[in-house]
Amino acid sequence: MQDNQTLQSIRYQRGLLSILDQLQLPDESVYIPIHSVDDAWKAIHTMSIRGAPAIAVCGVLSLAVELHHSRSKLESIAAVQHFVTDQLNYLSTARPTAVNMAEAAATIIDYLIPLSDKQVDLSLYIDDLLDFMEKFLEHDLADNRSIGRYGAETIRNNNPSPQQLTVLTHCNTGSLATVGFGTALGVVRQLAANNDLKLVYFTETRPYNQGSRLTAYELVHDRIPHSMICDSMAGLLMRTQPIHAVVVGADCVTANGDTANKIGTYQLAILAKYHHIPFYIAAPTTSIDLTKKTGAEIVIEQRPSREMTTIKGINIAAEGVQVWNPAFDVTPAALITSIITEHGVFKPDELEEKLLSLQKKVST
Ligand code: MRU
Repeated sequence: MQDNQTLQSIRYQRGLLSILDQLQLPDESVYIPIHSVDDAWKAIHTMSIRGAPAIAVCGVLSLAVELHHSRSKLESIAAVQHFVTDQLNYLSTARPTAVNMAEAAATIIDYLIPLSDKQVDLSLYIDDLLDFMEKFLEHDLADNRSIGRYGAETIRNNNPSPQQLTVLTHCNTGSLATVGFGTALGVVRQLAANNDLKLVYFTETRPYNQGSRLTAYELVHDRIPHSMICDSMAGLLMRTQPIHAVVVGADCVTANGDTANKIGTYQLAILAKYHHIPFYIAAPTTSIDLTKKTGAEIVIEQRPSREMTTIKGINIAAEGVQVWNPAFDVTPAALITSIITEHGVFKPDELEEKLLSLQKKVST
């Protein structure tokens, strides 16, 4: 059960999926139907839905919807497996940096293989697969709640004086970027719920304004004390205001702890280091890709120039201007204090070992 209906990024029941169109927020709250994997690919690519965890859940559920409606056309388990594998690989191409969709694809493809060994009825096989895919919805929400608890506790414990805390975040990592609650914004929500939050500063997040459009919408909705800044104000903010922590999300964390996140994250991490402010990544383990050893292996998505040169279709730059518009940057592990996951809080250099030992425990 998703826990905040107004901010619900994804609505799902078997055979039916719709998403809150984030391109129309904050002006209009419009749900658009997703009938197929193709619809989801387009919605993810155009950023009607965005945020690494929400992208993955939307992709997986679009496949569940398509599988549910085309089950009569799939005549064997092998045909189901081909169909599912092809569609998952296609979905993984919609936004290349956000690793959660590719991770979800790998998890589902792994699940297909053991099932094929069993002599199971085709219809039961499809039902079981649908159940498995639908679990992504509840897992994401549970993971976020857990990240929120670990993160709020860590930031609180790091500041022993009883005063309320002021934090800074970037982009949108809240209910809209996930199934609900959020990752970095979930930590902020939990601090507020614990009565430990004085104020959250957040960047407007140029060029696509996920901060001013979406994080602002969530913070106003939840009545969390906040103050928006332009991205260029972060240095002065850290120099002149007491900031107890910076907490941001992730699109891909590699084995050594290097982290790709929304463009502008890297400069915040450098500023935080200079001003001796702890810098946290809050991300589910589905955003961690241990097959990539360092951030140099992360593919950085380039977005269309119009996302930089226009706002709501209105030109804000000189006609004909040439632009460079990478959607993400990579923050080196050396600038990251800790990575807050649903399994606990890890230093970048212990991340790989801890995750491998968790995976071992699950498989035994
Ligand atoms: O381009 P976007 O809006 O999809 O970028 C989103 C981010 O960078 C988020 O910080 C990240 O996906 C984590 S969302 C919980």
